[in-house]
Amino acid sequence: MNAFKTCIPGIALAFLSTFCLKSFGQTSDNSTPKLGKNTVKEVVAAMTLEEKALLVVGASQRPRGGGGATGGARPVSGAPAPTGPVIGQTQQLVPGAAGTTNAIPRLGIPAIVLSDGPAGLRINPKRPGDSLNTYYCTAFPIETLLASTWNPAMVTKVGHAMGNEVLEYGADVLLAPALNIHRNPLGGRNFEYYSEDPLISGKMAAAMVNGVQSQGVGTSIKHFMANNQETSRNTINTILSERASRELYLRGFKIAVQESDPWTVMSSYNKVNGTYTSERADLLYSILRKEWGFKGLVMTDWFGGRDPIAQMKSANDLLMPGSPAQVQKIVAAVKDGSLDVKLLDANVERVLNLIIRTPRFKGYKYSNKPSLKENAQVSREAATEGIVLLKNTNHTLPLTKKGTVAVFGNTSYDIIAGGTGSGDVNRSYTISLVQGLSNSGYKVDASFAKAYGAYLDEQIKLHPRPARSFQKRDPIAEMPIDSAIILQKAAEDECAVITIGRISGEGADRKLDDDFYLSAKEKSMIKTVADAFHAKGKKAIVILNIGGVIETVSWRDNVDGILLAWQPGEEAGNAIAEVLSGKANPSGKLATTFPVDYKDVPSAKSFPGTPEGKPDQVVYEDGIYVGYRYYDTYKVNPAYEFGFGLSYTTFTVGDLKLSSTAFNNHITATVKVTNTGKAAGKQVIQLYIGAPAKTIDKPEKELKAFAKTKLLQPGTSQTLTFTINANDLASYYTDKSSWVAEEGKYTLSIGTSSRQIKQMANFTLAKPIVTEKVNNELVPQVTITEFKGK
Ligand code: BGC
Repeated sequence: MNAFKTCIPGIALAFLSTFCLKSFGQTSDNSTPKLGKNTVKEVVAAMTLEEKALLVVGASQRPRGGGGATGGARPVSGAPAPTGPVIGQTQQLVPGAAGTTNAIPRLGIPAIVLSDGPAGLRINPKRPGDSLNTYYCTAFPIETLLASTWNPAMVTKVGHAMGNEVLEYGADVLLAPALNIHRNPLGGRNFEYYSEDPLISGKMAAAMVNGVQSQGVGTSIKHFMANNQETSRNTINTILSERASRELYLRGFKIAVQESDPWTVMSSYNKVNGTYTSERADLLYSILRKEWGFKGLVMTDWFGGRDPIAQMKSANDLLMPGSPAQVQKIVAAVKDGSLDVKLLDANVERVLNLIIRTPRFKGYKYSNKPSLKENAQVSREAATEGIVLLKNTNHTLPLTKKGTVAVFGNTSYDIIAGGTGSGDVNRSYTISLVQGLSNSGYKVDASFAKAYGAYLDEQIKLHPRPARSFQKRDPIAEMPIDSAIILQKAAEDECAVITIGRISGEGADRKLDDDFYLSAKEKSMIKTVADAFHAKGKKAIVILNIGGVIETVSWRDNVDGILLAWQPGEEAGNAIAEVLSGKANPSGKLATTFPVDYKDVPSAKSFPGTPEGKPDQVVYEDGIYVGYRYYDTYKVNPAYEFGFGLSYTTFTVGDLKLSSTAFNNHITATVKVTNTGKAAGKQVIQLYIGAPAKTIDKPEKELKAFAKTKLLQPGTSQTLTFTINANDLASYYTDKSSWVAEEGKYTLSIGTSSRQIKQMANFTLAKPIVTEKVNNELVPQVTITEFKGK
């Protein structure tokens, strides 16, 4: 292979070739430093300016706008570049990965592979000219489901399995986990994110990073920061207060950085208070590196930001997927003195420090044979544990296996494993609900299976999935069923299971009609089926196969049971059937609130920004009052509150003991959980603190710790211990640029949800503590009229 090809695979752009030839025209003899043999600093000292610029710009070179689905890599066999939303995809090294860096063989620098994403590795399952092998990956449950496990150890296990696929398929960095806050239920990528709460988000992200990186590959926690919508995602100016930044939108990232040491961070597409995040040194340098001690690399999101020089100056080390114009501009800026080469060198060093950690640099011989079977089991186990039982009147569930189950709803037959876009996974199979029920020993009404099969085949032909896999297909309307047939089935079959499905993804937020709200057809299906089965003294259960929050209050009274299965990955049907049958006792809890109605959502008025239709700015008027922080403080009843989830058994939570009622450095709380029912089960204990609000407003309470019990057999107990430090008592005081724990009385509540508080105790703090003094950064340029609590 000639040097030019190695440098920029497949690109023949004139000015780039000049750089490459120049760069590789450099002789490489024994005296040329080599990465690994020489120090990073020695290698940097030996680099030409052009080589430095090539290293901080990704190798998927293609001018912005022409990338289409290939995200900048040359389309295979010269096919024209498609247009539309861009997600990363390269054909180099690992086809279908999101991108690569540039190799500089003269200095022993290989290209490394960066690949999505949050629900598992996303690469092409097949390769041209390779008919013998496939490269499928495991589709794990979406992050929202993983957060609903409230079990970081389970998330680490998933990370471990994902990392195995990253390593064995030859990728180096997984572009995950994503941990933006669920600010609004319509957020199109909420499924890729964990929660409305930063503690859960941060703990889950740290657990995932620890799992993935245990395999010797890297992660990229993303999208840093305040990237909470898809509308105008590449240009939106997010205007928010420093307090909201610190307490909500930065906090999860801080936890993840400090508890897991991710190899990389991905800056986001949006602006924060007027400037692109990738062009903000206060964010990427002062906060991330100086305050939090982050030692890794920052990369842009794909085509994120506008000004490569501002990005270089802001310590956004790597620009992805990279364009020739960026290389050119960086070289020119150093030459004309507008970019100090020392800043560029620091970024180059961080790229090299990343490269030397990777399996590709270490020469790892990947097998292309990850443990797909074992990983599918992990996917199933996690899915089972993150399914949330929302309703179960008169012990409708678990379902007996006596009679035949009548299964309704398109997605019972064509289940949704995960969302679309870069968070999608090319899996080899997905177990549908009906398959899962059959695998679990249920008899499924075959006449429906046949009718739905034919209907879906026909509809799929009429509404083919768009050519590029990351775009979603138009939703298929529910199959109309004659009411006489429903009545007949209600007479014959044992019970009805109805699935409601939703899919969303990158590039668009969700809609209210026929998405957040059920469509008229869906509501009528639920009501007609439930009424018919009830008339025969039989039950109707709804399965929610969704990636984000929907409205439930207008229809939930019609049915006897509701199981929130989220988008559970490739083992979907098996996991749901395990919970339906009682083989697994549901122990998932909501990590995001289900409101009664959209108008109750604190950001309903400001999302997705102004001007209407094509917003260019969004003002976070809700401040810190997002999710339960709002519903609890403003006394707005949700449909299902944060932390909620039912079980097939019952628990008592008692014996709360505090180590002291006067806070001094820390306080320990212990609590005893007993399984008082008849089935073995796990319970999640949530510790909330309400702080005194003498000088600034505070939410009624905030989650400060949580723990899940082990599987408790009936009649057995477990004592859980929580430690509360001064940091847990502190809020951000903008006027002091400090985190301060105010003196006064604190309320510690132990709950099984944010509204089911089982035990409470108070303690006092005699004198205020400044727990951390930070830099005054991310200052808004305009006045924000924020919610101030009640
Ligand atoms: C997404 C990122 C993703 C990247 C590479 C972007 O469109 O926002 O989350 O990692 O593409 O595929």
